[in-house]
Amino acid sequence: GTAQIGVTGLAVMGRNLARNFARNGFTVAVHNRTTAKTDALVKEFGDEGAFVAAHTPQEFVAALERPRRLVVMVKAGEPTDAVIQEFAPLLDEGDVVVDGGNAHFEDTRRREKELRERGIHFVGAGISGGEEGALNGPSIMPGGSAESYESLGPMLEKISAKAKDGAPCVTHVGPDGAGHFVKMTHNGIEYADMQLIGEAYQLLRDVAGYSATQIAEIFRTWNTGRLDSYLIEITAEVLSQVDAATGKPFVDVVLDQAEQKGTGRWTVQIALDLGVPVSGIAEAVFARSVSGHAALREASRHLVGPTARKLGADEAAAFADQVEQALYASKIVSYTQGFHEIAAGSEKYDWNIDLGKVAAIWRGGCIIRAAFLDRITSAYEARAQLPSLLADKSFAEEIAAAQDDWRAVAATAITQGVPTPAFTSTLAYYDSLRAERLPAALTQGQRDYFGAHTYRRVDRDGVFHTLWGGDKTEVES
Ligand code: 6PG
Repeated sequence: GTAQIGVTGLAVMGRNLARNFARNGFTVAVHNRTTAKTDALVKEFGDEGAFVAAHTPQEFVAALERPRRLVVMVKAGEPTDAVIQEFAPLLDEGDVVVDGGNAHFEDTRRREKELRERGIHFVGAGISGGEEGALNGPSIMPGGSAESYESLGPMLEKISAKAKDGAPCVTHVGPDGAGHFVKMTHNGIEYADMQLIGEAYQLLRDVAGYSATQIAEIFRTWNTGRLDSYLIEITAEVLSQVDAATGKPFVDVVLDQAEQKGTGRWTVQIALDLGVPVSGIAEAVFARSVSGHAALREASRHLVGPTARKLGADEAAAFADQVEQALYASKIVSYTQGFHEIAAGSEKYDWNIDLGKVAAIWRGGCIIRAAFLDRITSAYEARAQLPSLLADKSFAEEIAAAQDDWRAVAATAITQGVPTPAFTSTLAYYDSLRAERLPAALTQGQRDYFGAHTYRRVDRDGVFHTLWGGDKTEVES
């Protein structure tokens, strides 16, 4: 075969990825179960580069130079397993199979092990950036053997997004499921970012009394500062959109029930298993869930809230500045939580993930790309063993400067009855970490009282139990 890479599964992501490889000078074998899609791709985009249309798995495999590199771009779950089962018998030792979908990292670990036993490299690669990114440069998070990255890395570096300093937004994240784990957490952070932006929007609308168009302007201004990011940028675009049919703001005609495909939920499920508090991300997932409970919301509309007090024009402008502070502080906390989860996953599965590099490859191409990520890279570069992003001096200082406004915004939201679960939960996390003493001591006392679950003391080593039902003396257990 002559093709340096093959792509099977030519839905929009697969098709755009294949075109991206071709536009970068690689010969690309393309395959799809429905062959019409393969032919359509070559017909429509054949002039962009060198494609080899393959109509059967056998033709596809034969089209690839060896050791083969093939990218599977089908739906996560069973469809991915089915394609792997179909192709594995046709492959040889040393070939590299890439799964570019949003697979669960546990599935990736299983598939990697199965294929490794047959001498085939399996690379679970998170790819972020949507359709546009797949075509013009995504952020790529590949996990798998170091050897597979040697063969694949240079090609991925070519097709990936480039950060402002020119660095390709791809790195060998770590073995087996590491890449998909990092992509999962990326999406969890994406959910939190989106929820925080949503809360900011709602406060600006309901408390400050701004119109959607005015809020779009505010976001545009924020986008020139430290919040400079893709999600803030597109938020301004979405808020400026006017519905052609009604002349109303687009946001006012969209049903307010957020959907999800599962990666945010996985981030929280895995965090619970790892014992990592990702409260901001969890609240973002729950917020989507609440929004979708139409009947429950309908049945609750009569519940009493506070009397709203809209702000005057001067107050509104000052409030908007405070919301920017709150948004930034909460964002720092939600990234802190997400990176904690990656660190915990890396530790548990022995992945040795470089957290600074993860932040670096998110600087371009992906949905959460932001100027802010440079800062995270610097924080980890300054101190690889940083126990938490909040332990970084410059982030801590920024939060210190933002905290009064952050608290004021949270207080206003609560007093006015505007739901801000992500703003308030990230603030509670911050205060929990700061607290000299937590009521966990009382929790331990209660557990010891009703279940003799024992406790430890602040002043002596050992495990203790108080004879609550007897003379209430303490015994060492
Ligand atoms: C990306 C996105 C991408 C996809 C999400 C959307 O990084 O390019 O995260 O993976 O758009 O899966 O997720 P929900 O449908 O769950 O919002």
